[in-house]
Amino acid sequence: MRRKIVAGNWKMNGSKDLARSLVSYVRSRVASLDNGVEVVIVPPAIYVGDVAESADDILAFGVQNVGQWASGAYTGEISAEMAGDQGCRYALVGHSERRQIFGETDNVVAAKVARLVGNKLNAIVCVGETLEEREAGKAESVVADQVRHGLAAVSRDQWSCIVVAYEPVWAIGTGKTATAQDAQAMHASIRKVLSEMGAPAEDISLLYGGSVKADNAAALFAEPDIDGGLIGGASLVAEDFVSICRAVP
Ligand code: G3H
Repeated sequence: MRRKIVAGNWKMNGSKDLARSLVSYVRSRVASLDNGVEVVIVPPAIYVGDVAESADDILAFGVQNVGQWASGAYTGEISAEMAGDQGCRYALVGHSERRQIFGETDNVVAAKVARLVGNKLNAIVCVGETLEEREAGKAESVVADQVRHGLAAVSRDQWSCIVVAYEPVWAIGTGKTATAQDAQAMHASIRKVLSEMGAPAEDISLLYGGSVKADNAAALFAEPDIDGGLIGGASLVAEDFVSICRAVP
């Protein structure tokens, strides 16, 4: 049985107040859900402690990025071990904003995945094609390459720490969502790639991200290979985020 997960990626938004008030609100509303969803809050790293205080074992939390090194003279970076030390159970890796703005390559993604799983953290590995790649008919092959290279070093006993988030770049923050059918097709393709890699593909949670909102979440989550969502903008609005958590069947 794979996990159903809804993760809220705050990106570089929020405040100490929001970390406390939004997390308390979400915690109190999702505590009674009986759909088995695991709700993960991913704030800017500086607010992880504030989120942790309000999460109260009901919500999981994580960081948006870790360095690819164990420790050392890397000013501004935090390590996977530090994230675990602060109680994080999750970390995002290879978000398209990291790939595009910070130049993260598949090799860097693979190194970060290795750090995370080595520290027994769940890595939410983000993949997705640009509009140009989709229009050129390359979406599936681009995403397949990201999956193969980013997860190349995962060993047999580490797959339980891997979650893949499919986020078409053209859908992120744009209000344009992939149709449930297109998202399902890509998720099925990712699962096939994982299976070809020797991973226990049926047990790996695949999340969809890209303008998921309260009014489109249910249709996406109803698809057989979509196990939840990675939510950006809507995760900063407490009521909307709770509605998305409720939309998991
Ligand atoms: O990590 C989240 C994604 O980038 C989606 O962001 O929901 O604002 O489109 P969005």
